[in-house]
Amino acid sequence: MSILIVYYSRTGYTKKIAEAIARASGADLEEILSKKNRKGLFGYLKSGKEAARKELAEIEEVKKNVLEYDIVIIGTPVWVGNMTSPIRTYLNNNLGRFKQVAFFSTQGSIKDQKVFNELREILGKDPLSVLKMSTKEVSKGEFNDKIDKFLKEIKSN
Ligand SMILES: Cc1cc2nc3c(=O)[nH]c(=O)nc-3n(C[C@H](O)[C@H](O)[C@H](O)COP(=O)(O)O)c2cc1C
Repeated sequence: MSILIVYYSRTGYTKKIAEAIARASGADLEEILSKKNRKGLFGYLKSGKEAARKELAEIEEVKKNVLEYDIVIIGTPVWVGNMTSPIRTYLNNNLGRFKQVAFFSTQGSIKDQKVFNELREILGKDPLSVLKMSTKEVSKGEFNDKIDKFLKEIKSN
């Protein structure tokens, strides 16, 4: 069973989780890179505006062929209650190419559920499993148990 983890990360939280999932599962990693500079307050505001308007963003060329994977795990930070614009672009560029999917997100507060609903709608697929991590959990390194559960669900579905 081949697994690809596709993620975008502006400040490293989502990257940390993506890499921990890869270590625990042996999955391949694809980091989506935005062509836009998103650093600092200006980058924050620009990113929030794009996400709220559900806009696409230019991304660097990807390295992995999604068609070669049985399962694609998609990871995104939450921006203004939405997925990030670079992940939206990646999904848009690859519609119809995903076999099975699972989702994870990182965010300040883990109450919001909208992102996974929209991922479901865009892909037209129910995820094998979902994982939500707060920045606090990521900072404290409290994610291995949740990741184990996430991977078990993926593999048993
Ligand atoms: C533009 C912007 C908007 C955000 N909006 C939300 C939000 O609506 N809800 C939330 O819980 N966190 C929000 N956050 C916090 C991020 O989701 C959180 O810091 C995330 O873990 C960052 O992931 P990264 O380090 O991989 O980029 C926002 C961050 C940014 C930059």
